[in-house]
Amino acid sequence: MTKHEKPTIFVTRRWPAEAEAALSYYFSPTFNESDTPLSAAEMAAGFASHDAIAPTVSDVIGGDIISAGANGSGRLIANYGVGVNHIDLEAAAAAGIPVSNTPGVLTDATADLALTLILMLTRRAGEGERELRSGSWDGWRPTHLMGRSLQGKTLGIIGMGRIGKAVAHRAAVGFGMEIVFQNRSQVTDVFDYSATQLDDVESVCRVSDIVSLHCAASPQTYHVINSERLAIMKPNSCLINTARGDVVDEGALATALCERRIGGAGLDVFQGEPAIDSALLSAPNTVLLPHLGSATVETRTAMGLKVVANARAFFAGKSLVDPV
Ligand code: DGY
Repeated sequence: MTKHEKPTIFVTRRWPAEAEAALSYYFSPTFNESDTPLSAAEMAAGFASHDAIAPTVSDVIGGDIISAGANGSGRLIANYGVGVNHIDLEAAAAAGIPVSNTPGVLTDATADLALTLILMLTRRAGEGERELRSGSWDGWRPTHLMGRSLQGKTLGIIGMGRIGKAVAHRAAVGFGMEIVFQNRSQVTDVFDYSATQLDDVESVCRVSDIVSLHCAASPQTYHVINSERLAIMKPNSCLINTARGDVVDEGALATALCERRIGGAGLDVFQGEPAIDSALLSAPNTVLLPHLGSATVETRTAMGLKVVANARAFFAGKSLVDPV
């Protein structure tokens, strides 16, 4: 790159139009026009031949891609997404390549989707829609597809960060739920609703009618919901996951659902996504969505603009806005 040329950015997928336009204004991007998943070799070649790479949460950025970038022109990984469990951060640090992400802008959209899953599950909306579309609805009757109401029920949040708090607020203020939560550090915020921090995940599982996962994926949170914790959840309770597939032992969850040991599960993220464990697909009382947490035009645009802000700061020699 000469002094007057725009830095080049390899972008692994297409973005919303406004975000692509902003990126193109400040940089010389190469978008993946096919908008289909790239191979590791394609991403390595892309990173090596550009000043930065902007992957998304579905691109596995391993050490091989990072060293290809570092040995070529690559100097920055500007992730389009807040979660970074798909990036080998140790390899990036070892190669001296900084990583940025997009926190904050997807909090509301993800919290809204967690509530969508909670409502779809407890009000049996998926079942009802399937019944109606299949032509098997035979009319209103008092016992038809009765769900469970949320008022006065307990929502247990695992991981009381930005998104956990936004879900708790909606559930408490909007739906009259009681809130309990687990967080690895003490949460000292003053909330406009009552919320009780419990000592551990087990305590949350034991008392909650709905357990909603909002922790980042890490070695510490891998399978934070496992067969032991599913076994202590209430019989009618529901599990909601909008965090990452890795935080749930999906085999144990499918077994608990099939044996009716918990009431249901609402999942937006999966361990091997987009491949879905067949045991989960056939398990009863589930609502399964294709990783839609941040999928609004507003949010996906804001995520792109965050990438732009981070890359601009980096190439202006300033600190990253959102360093990982
Ligand atoms: C993220 O940014 O990590 C989200 O999972 C995308 O929806």
